[in-house]
Amino acid sequence: MNRRDLLLYGLASGLSATAALPPASGQAETTAKASRAPEGQFPPGFLWGAATAAYQVEGAYNEDGKGESIWDRFVLAPGKIKNGDTGKVACDSYHKWREDVALLKRMNLKSYRFSTAWTRIQPNGVGPANTKGLDYYSRLTDALLEAGIRPFATLYHWDLPQALEDRGGWANRDTAGRYADYCDIMARALGDRITNWSLFNESKAFTQLGYWTGDFAPGRKDPLAFLKVTHTVNLAHGMGFRALKAVSPKLQVGSVYDVSPQYPASASEADKAAAVQMDKLSNLWFVQPVLTGAYPDGVLPADRQAELLGFLPGDDKVMSADLDFVGLNYYSRTRVSHTDTDTGIPGFHASPEWAVGAGEVTDFGWNIYPQGFYDILKRMQAVTGMRPIEITENGAAYNNRPGADGQIHDGKRIDYLRLHLNALSRAIADGVPVRAYHCWSLMDNFEWASGYTERFGLTWVDFDNGQKRTVKDSGEWYAKVVAANRVV
Ligand code: GCO
Repeated sequence: MNRRDLLLYGLASGLSATAALPPASGQAETTAKASRAPEGQFPPGFLWGAATAAYQVEGAYNEDGKGESIWDRFVLAPGKIKNGDTGKVACDSYHKWREDVALLKRMNLKSYRFSTAWTRIQPNGVGPANTKGLDYYSRLTDALLEAGIRPFATLYHWDLPQALEDRGGWANRDTAGRYADYCDIMARALGDRITNWSLFNESKAFTQLGYWTGDFAPGRKDPLAFLKVTHTVNLAHGMGFRALKAVSPKLQVGSVYDVSPQYPASASEADKAAAVQMDKLSNLWFVQPVLTGAYPDGVLPADRQAELLGFLPGDDKVMSADLDFVGLNYYSRTRVSHTDTDTGIPGFHASPEWAVGAGEVTDFGWNIYPQGFYDILKRMQAVTGMRPIEITENGAAYNNRPGADGQIHDGKRIDYLRLHLNALSRAIADGVPVRAYHCWSLMDNFEWASGYTERFGLTWVDFDNGQKRTVKDSGEWYAKVVAANRVV
């Protein structure tokens, strides 16, 4: 089962895979308008990059004083990860970071989105910084700057210190304060060299999958705890933002949201209403409170919302932050049906199927739907306005292995990226203020519950032979796109 397939209500939609996807009310499926610039062209100064995340690439899970994270613990539980894989070694970037910087350079990239592991800095999530952990990110940052590449750090890509999970994790409000302390440490140590910071990666994914469906760490299946978790994470956005800005107002602070257009599974009014509800819970539940101080209405019963979230007087101010930019990750679309089955969330009747529908799929089974990229950018702009957007992830899993010539001929990844970059260029030409694009991923890595079976990299990593890196055809192609500043 694909990891975002939230069929948690055991719902079979009964619709054929080829059923038409009519527009969601409030979120119309658009057809491309005539753009001002030719398709595939990008504005001068557009920033090209690639992304990774600490647990997925670093390895060295217990070196130099690193503490245990919820992922270090979760991967050990039988049956959670395909083939029993773990991130203990992963791509060994903790030791091979020089090679990673060389890969970025070889692809002409000017931005590297990586994440910092909280447990390298504060092994138990509290207390003074572990200097050896900070040194690792300091060395990486210096090497990037030396290579003319912008270091772009994500402070939380899902690896909560296990010690904090033992005290309730994100369901415990105090975790927001611990997170702000960690942000303060990072800004003091690296704020002189890293200007651009993301507070969180994909709050929707790690809260839903971690606390509602239990598919990801910490593996809890508790819808009511999940609601509290979402509120703590929103409080942490505001508190983390202010912690970073207090160290230096010059820091540019945003956050990364995984978004997907939520199309109703049929033309029925019930499915349309479900799509609207799912859009609010999935696309808006984190970005809207942070930007406006209020949750989208119509997801929880109004008279129970404060109690269900643990919302206290004044929280609207605590969670608010005037983000400097918004990061968006896009992979595929979602189709939403109404369900009468108990979702565990009072008043919530939407059942999503992620990455489904007619047409071609990637090796992961995710539907290829570039128009959804255009649609969701237009949709999000209605909330984020003219605030700069960075595409922080987009990419596809194709599991081609080296051919007889030793090279990796991953033409389908090139096709996927070409289609999505064309859709992105149309959105930009139609006024969406996107300033950067990061491909997921710089290299094959630990794909969460799928272990090493799904490869998203522009670079092949030989996990059986010393993590040797080989740039794929797609990496060579991407280097040309970057050099030309247009799709080639
Ligand atoms: C996420 C993460 C990445 C994934 C990528 C492919 O979106 O889950 O940011 O860590 O590896 O999205 O699934």
